Amino acid sequence: MNRNEVRQRALKARMALSPQLVREKSGIITARVISSEAYRSAGSIMVYVDFRNEVSTGTLIAHCLKAGKKVSVPITDIEGKRLIPSALLDYPGDLEPGAWGILEPKKDCLRPVDPGDIDLVVVPGVAYDKGGNRLGYGGGFYDRFLPRTKPGTVYLAPAFEAQVVDDVFPGPLDVPVHIIVTEERVMGNLKE
Ligand SMILES: Nc1ncnc2c1ncn2[C@@H]1O[C@H](COP(=O)(O)OP(=O)(O)OP(=O)(O)O)[C@@H](O)[C@H]1O
Ligand SMILES: [Mg+2]
Repeated sequence: MNRNEVRQRALKARMALSPQLVREKSGIITARVISSEAYRSAGSIMVYVDFRNEVSTGTLIAHCLKAGKKVSVPITDIEGKRLIPSALLDYPGDLEPGAWGILEPKKDCLRPVDPGDIDLVVVPGVAYDKGGNRLGYGGGFYDRFLPRTKPGTVYLAPAFEAQVVDDVFPGPLDVPVHIIVTEERVMGNLKE
């Protein structure tokens, strides 16, 4: 197995989940995230907006807004291979389909946030190993973005059990996450 095979296999397993299972499991995962210390203590949170059977983040985003936390969502700069966090004030009103059809802030809702101001990043991913190593879609967007946050920023990955594998064959540029939350367990504090 190599990275691409792991990626294809994990994507297939995730896409095989029915909408109802995605909803149920996402609900369990979201409840765990909301009760976590990392979430409760974070004032500024960057959250991905789910697409294609990723763990859904709508409830989490709505909870952040209601709790008075500063929420930002990523804008993908494909040419620059960068992610730009943008503060969200209205969910989903501020959003429209952007890169690859993922919801992103509308032009008049662009409010860039300094990566150094973010306490918690809720990251998307395709597959994870138990050590927190992460395999994304292959663009390196999060691997470039995460090192721009401040020391102490927590990287948390909501994921379905079907995305947890023995080995993702991480490379030197792959940034691991600190916490993985699935519908069955929390694998935590994996990186200091
Ligand atoms: N910090 C970095 N600086 C420059 N290039 C990088 C960096 N991180 C990753 N890359 C490059 O980006 C490409 C894709 O990386 P990788 O396969 O790890 O993506 P990924 O982790 O699956 O994607 P993503 O982070 O967008 O979810 C590779 O060619 C990798 O070398
Ligand atoms: Mg990577």
